[in-house]
Amino acid sequence: MMHLIAPSILAADFGNLQKDIELINNSQADWIHVDIMDGMFVPNISFGFPVVSAVNKHAKKPLDVHLMIVEPDRYLQRFKDAGASHITVHYEACPNLNRTIQVIKELGCTAGVALNPHTPVSLLEDIIIDLDLVLIMSVNPGFGGQHFIENTYKKLKDIKELSSRQNPGLLVEVDGGVDEHNAATLFAAGANVLVAGNAVFSAPQPLSVIAALKQSGLS
Ligand code: DX5
Ligand code: ZN
Repeated sequence: MMHLIAPSILAADFGNLQKDIELINNSQADWIHVDIMDGMFVPNISFGFPVVSAVNKHAKKPLDVHLMIVEPDRYLQRFKDAGASHITVHYEACPNLNRTIQVIKELGCTAGVALNPHTPVSLLEDIIIDLDLVLIMSVNPGFGGQHFIENTYKKLKDIKELSSRQNPGLLVEVDGGVDEHNAATLFAAGANVLVAGNAVFSAPQPLSVIAALKQSGLS
């Protein structure tokens, strides 16, 4: 089973992003997680296209773009052009989710859907076969450094049940409050991709944290 690590640059040093991107390049991380917040879907604003393009200029790993924005359809092409390899939209922000997913795939990107903590996995039943990835939010979206929500384990069980029947190749990503203490349990519960922001960038030795998270997938 695939066990990937995606450090989130939301917790990086924005005054010296190149340094933190190079740190990820030289680490055991697999993807670079890029959080886009619009101040509408979530009560916070992060950054936009020029920053994503700048990150992409230095990145040697795929950009995993997590769109916490309303009407993401308006910007899919521009995120692709800015360097996104994987694009994840929120279920709660997409009234025409099937169309949105088809557009992401036509752009040549991996298509993901994120679920807020209160959104049940069962709502994906009629779209799961079309998805490459499901992102389970394990905090309320909008901020880094929050506490992990334990109900995530129940949701991992639900998504595994659904995907084993209809889409066994589905990637399951967990985002928020992931650290060295819960990583092994999350991988064992069926997660394939773990996002980590503060656990990596607030640590004195980010490279060792990334290595430890990656190692958690082997145990
Ligand atoms: C939260 C973002 C997360 C965030 C994770 O809305 O989607 O990707 O960067 O940060 P930590 O790992 O610090 O909870
Ligand atoms: Zn995220």
